[in-house]
Amino acid sequence: MPAGRHPTCGHAPGGRTRRRILCLRLPRHPGTTRTVRGAAPVLTTRGRSVVPSAAESHPPLRVALLGCGVVGTQVARLLTEQADDLASRVGAPLELVGIAVRDASAPRDAAVDRSLLTEDAAGLVERADIVVEVMGGTEPARSLLLRAIEAGAAVVTANKALLAEDGPTLYKAADAAGVDIYFEAAVAGAIPIVRPVRESLAGDRVRRVLGIVNGTTNYVLDQMATTGRGLDEAVREAQDLGYAEADPTADVEGYDAAAKAAILASLAFHTRVSLDDVAREGILAVTADDVAWAAQTGHVIKLLAIAERRDGGATGEAGVSVRVHPALVPTSHPLANVRGSFNAVFVEAESAGELMFYGRGAGGAPTASAVLGDVVSAARHRVLGGKGPQESTYAELPILPPSAAVTRYQVRLDVEDRPGVLAQVAHALAEHGVSIEAVRQPTARGAADVAEPGVAELLITTHAAPESALSATVAAVAELEPVRTITSVLRVEGA
Ligand code: HSE
Repeated sequence: MPAGRHPTCGHAPGGRTRRRILCLRLPRHPGTTRTVRGAAPVLTTRGRSVVPSAAESHPPLRVALLGCGVVGTQVARLLTEQADDLASRVGAPLELVGIAVRDASAPRDAAVDRSLLTEDAAGLVERADIVVEVMGGTEPARSLLLRAIEAGAAVVTANKALLAEDGPTLYKAADAAGVDIYFEAAVAGAIPIVRPVRESLAGDRVRRVLGIVNGTTNYVLDQMATTGRGLDEAVREAQDLGYAEADPTADVEGYDAAAKAAILASLAFHTRVSLDDVAREGILAVTADDVAWAAQTGHVIKLLAIAERRDGGATGEAGVSVRVHPALVPTSHPLANVRGSFNAVFVEAESAGELMFYGRGAGGAPTASAVLGDVVSAARHRVLGGKGPQESTYAELPILPPSAAVTRYQVRLDVEDRPGVLAQVAHALAEHGVSIEAVRQPTARGAADVAEPGVAELLITTHAAPESALSATVAAVAELEPVRTITSVLRVEGA
């Protein structure tokens, strides 16, 4: 017991929050005692002990909100509208004490109490028990969260970019301060996936996580598949409907999914994985023809965030491979049916087997739902004691380079249609140790235009091969004299 701590519960007498916690021993069963923090003294009526509920007796927990955009507005609304339920679930009222915004005079949703708005975010975090950060961006979010942690507040953040870039700084600070840091909303919005991976599967060994974790790109690819539209048109439609930002770069180039992949990989494999460790390829190169061909071969194209543990052996090195790229997913796989802007995360674990988590990956209320769940967890710890999980990095697995990723491929190419060409192409694959699973020579192109006379289209599906071998193969095939062009190279996942 550190010097100066309460002899029963171990609480330090100092600190803003801790000062307000009462510690007393209440009779539970004959011969046993339990410690209740924050409860009012025991009242006795006709020989019975009556203990007021914790919610009635615990001082309110002060919640500070950083950011009042689409998500922040909904967090503020839910904290107000569900105040009674939340108090009962936590055991103390949750009091929203301030909302930090850049411009307090800007128009706001009617759900936001304007008297709570402040432009002094740094001052606000100093007077909170729980700080909720939904402002996004690296700074000032990082500095504010560190300040909140140092001041003894638990923090809840939806900031995937910050966590993927510099999560360990925050985790270490929270650990040193003995406060919670929760971030369910940072990955796949409303879908509970951080808690299941971090806690529910803590007794298992995760092999692989495959996620559709970006709603914008899933909407775009789904529209391309259902309407035959090209990428640009589908992106414009997503923007018109409010799914895509005016600048869709973070989504279509895979940055958003890569940040989420880094967070999931860190949790699943107990290894620090940062954004820089994630091999990333967006959807900009996906054509209407690719999508049409995918359908003809029983696949759909999805932007996948993939994190997998490789045990090494004949087909590759041991370590963790984390990547984001478009992939052909067989229509029989559960991820193939994740339509529109929905998200889903498919987890393969040694004992649990296959699990899929599905739902809304973005949007104000869905994301606020995940934020509020974290607020309740952190608040319960304030009332009842205890602490959420810390960062777990004991495994320290090596992060594999993109070239070590092992997967199946579908390669489409235009070749001269004469005897011996297929044999030359097959020879080039064999020379690089890439095994062919199937070859098709369709008579018409996927998008229904007819092949040029004298030119044949080949569609080669390979067995699993390391990316380095596949790249070398494709380069060699492209150099062959009868090969006109390599039209596309797509990975096949989930088969
Ligand atoms: N822009 C993201 C998406 C939501 O489209 O899913 C926030 O991560």
